[in-house]
Amino acid sequence: MSKLRTVTVTVNGVAYEKAVEPRLLLADFLRQTLGLTGTHVGCEHGVCGACTVLVDGDSMRSCLLFAVQLDGSRIETVEGLGGIGRLNPLQEAFREHHALQCGFCTPGMLMTVTDLISKYPLATDDEIRAGLSGNLCRCTGYEHIVRAVRAAVGRIQEQAP
Ligand code: FES
Ligand code: FES
Repeated sequence: MSKLRTVTVTVNGVAYEKAVEPRLLLADFLRQTLGLTGTHVGCEHGVCGACTVLVDGDSMRSCLLFAVQLDGSRIETVEGLGGIGRLNPLQEAFREHHALQCGFCTPGMLMTVTDLISKYPLATDDEIRAGLSGNLCRCTGYEHIVRAVRAAVGRIQEQAP
């Protein structure tokens, strides 16, 4: 075993300080060390997007980062968006528009869209599709996901002051 290193991060608003192996991936840190299994691991080499989380507000592949690289960072995972009985507008739109089947891709989709919505207008379906092009879904054919994102964008704009 290699020498442990201490990593201090904030995940969904909770501060953690953990001793980890330098080779531990962020995805495994979240899932195994912190028990936040909402972040899914599919391809493990940066292709599928299932492991997407927000790091200091930017969406990133947690399978391509080592936990020690994130020392001092603010991380948000799907668990931080909402939960049963308190879905956020994006999650609610996914539920209403049947934007998932097996749900494996969904955490990564939600985190990618959370990042996109915070930065870009996503005014057209083409923009939504381009934004989602790094997240693979083998079930839905994407149409319902695009509908859900369109609905969420509309709802968030309505609620904006
Ligand atoms: S598991 Fe990270 S991109 Fe597929
Ligand atoms: S809902 Fe199954 S992979 Fe997207």
